Amino acid sequence: MCGIFGYINYLVEKDRKFIVDTLLNGLSRLEYRGYDSAGMAVDGNKKNEVFAFKEVGKVAKLKELIEQSATDMTKTFESHAGISHTRWATHGTPPPSELPPSPNSTDSILIHSSDPLWEFSVVHNGIITNYKELKALLETKGFRFETETDTECIAKLAKYLYDQHPDIEFTVLAKAVIKELEGAFGLLMKSVHYPHEVIAARKGSPLVIGVKTSKKMKVDFVDVEYSEDGVLSAEQASQNVAAKKSATSLLAPPDKSLLHRSQSRAFLSDDGIPQPAEFFLSSDPSAIVEHTKKVLYLEDDDIAHIHEGQLNIHRLTKDDGTSNVRAIQTIELELQEIMKGKFDHFMQKEIFEQPESVVNTMRGRLDVANKRVTLGGLRQYISTIRRCRRIIFIACGTSYHSCMAVRGIFEELTEIPIAVELASDFLDRQAPVFRDDTCVFVSQSGETADSLMALRYCLERGALTVGVVNVVGSSISLLTHCGVHINAGPEIGVASTKAYTSQFVAMVMFALSLSEDRASKQKRREEIMEGLGQISEQFKQILKLNDPIKDLCAKFFKNQKSLLLLGRGAQFPTALEGALKIKEISYLHCEAVMSGELKHGVLALVDENLPIIMILTRDSLFTKSLNAYQQVIARGGRPIVICNHDDPEFSSALTEKIDVPKTVDCLQGLLNVIPLQLISYWLAVGEGLNVDFPRNLAKSVTVE
Ligand code: G6P
Repeated sequence: MCGIFGYINYLVEKDRKFIVDTLLNGLSRLEYRGYDSAGMAVDGNKKNEVFAFKEVGKVAKLKELIEQSATDMTKTFESHAGISHTRWATHGTPPPSELPPSPNSTDSILIHSSDPLWEFSVVHNGIITNYKELKALLETKGFRFETETDTECIAKLAKYLYDQHPDIEFTVLAKAVIKELEGAFGLLMKSVHYPHEVIAARKGSPLVIGVKTSKKMKVDFVDVEYSEDGVLSAEQASQNVAAKKSATSLLAPPDKSLLHRSQSRAFLSDDGIPQPAEFFLSSDPSAIVEHTKKVLYLEDDDIAHIHEGQLNIHRLTKDDGTSNVRAIQTIELELQEIMKGKFDHFMQKEIFEQPESVVNTMRGRLDVANKRVTLGGLRQYISTIRRCRRIIFIACGTSYHSCMAVRGIFEELTEIPIAVELASDFLDRQAPVFRDDTCVFVSQSGETADSLMALRYCLERGALTVGVVNVVGSSISLLTHCGVHINAGPEIGVASTKAYTSQFVAMVMFALSLSEDRASKQKRREEIMEGLGQISEQFKQILKLNDPIKDLCAKFFKNQKSLLLLGRGAQFPTALEGALKIKEISYLHCEAVMSGELKHGVLALVDENLPIIMILTRDSLFTKSLNAYQQVIARGGRPIVICNHDDPEFSSALTEKIDVPKTVDCLQGLLNVIPLQLISYWLAVGEGLNVDFPRNLAKSVTVE
């Protein structure tokens, strides 16, 4: 949800076209996260001038706007700092209603620095929860707000503090501003008063910095700098609190002399002189990999300052328990991994990648020949988890469904009580959590706000926390005690597909690891490991159904108003996930029903017109599931059946069916979900809908 991208060149001459194109390209790589408007701020033609461009809709429209603005694109900059973002409205309507009128220009696109808002330009992800208080306070200081956004209060607060102390350093100012902000956010700030400098801060919202230097860096880490006395003295802090209460005075920034300023060793030459360098700041490494593979992940409460080819990282508080260096890592991600290739949509590509992505999840972990599972990220904690009183799985959306899908096999193999919770509901209830609980946070992005808040809640209560996450370096993977990366590769389509199957496989391996010491489960464990060994090939077989499924969608589901999806036992989560996929991208109302519950109400909906899909692969509940099938048939229903190959029960030519291979019962959901992913895809394509960017949805929901 939302994306921010910044580009800074130092002693590397670039023209404005290059800078603007780099920013636009960065934004387009972040489009998948979901947004409804986009904007950027770059330096103007004169000193103390900034050009800001904003546009409702897609990045392509922002590009058009810039092209039409007749801005001189040939102007060159030896050093420059540009920031940009895609925005998903949480406060106020999207621009242009938020475009501040420019007092000095008839051109509403170029906003000059004499407009107070643009002395400081800010882009931000997430939410500032106390923006109303800050706004009220600043209004008493004579500030007039042009927009309903929470972002504007950051820029105005910076302007207010700067006016009081015009000789203040940028980092000192940034710390004073950030200290005042409550909520979860990632932000970039630039200012005409600090040319070519950028502040990047993160608090709960991801930020990655890519670094490109012509010479090898001297060290592969950046030191973290702590203010010797924190940011504010006690007196200043109390002023600060008073300010919030009385709205009469804002904090005074601390004395600059208190600040300890170290050299950022990585970027200096032997004689201590900064080298030419480029920096790429992004919410997500997928926007950085085409420029550089050297990245540094900021941690929560880090404030990075990029200036004169250097990167310094500051913390608000001293000795806060975090590491005093941030490693510059080399990422493995390749650009083609985040490109669509021969596919029309990312979602389609990701559905078809599943034979490989599940193998990547198991690679180096599952040894089918020797019947062993090794999850390196959990090894030290496995015996503690075996002794826990309960395992609570906590997640949202598709990730919640994958937890539901593995609940049965966890109970069976571990005999530990298992709970599966929606993060938002878990928090709403303030559910009891104890020190001897193990809480497993499952999240593709590792940034979902509800899951992240639930994680903090469990950490506060002393539980052991485990992350099952796709995105390396994400908040959940950093904050949990231990975990498993599902290694599914970048997932761009908003509707999650390959992450679901990889989460499922990763969690089955987790259950297998936990039960390694149980002799009574050995046979069952071996059967599951063998099943996992065949999953990839079976996925390939199912994907051959692509064309028949496309035809089936056109024949049975065109112009329908709603659809029922029935499953039982381990196939109920499959039905839930299928229904979510269909709703998300085809906007067709689709309800997943536990077959056992059919007779308790939903049967009233069934007639010869209602489209129904029933999951009827063979497992121990097959007879009961068949019972539900008969009930539907008896009401004139004509369900489409997902069943195993050559099942004699569905041999009639009149039965419309989707054949899937058979696997171990607890893995069957992995296979059954794929036809449902394809159905949702072809339904949406059939309706001409934007599969990768469904309306009102975002890939990563970083707000509560
Ligand atoms: C959003 C996405 C869903 C996703 C859910 C949880 O709602 O649109 O596709 O399942 O977030 O995301 P996570 O990254 O935590 O798995």
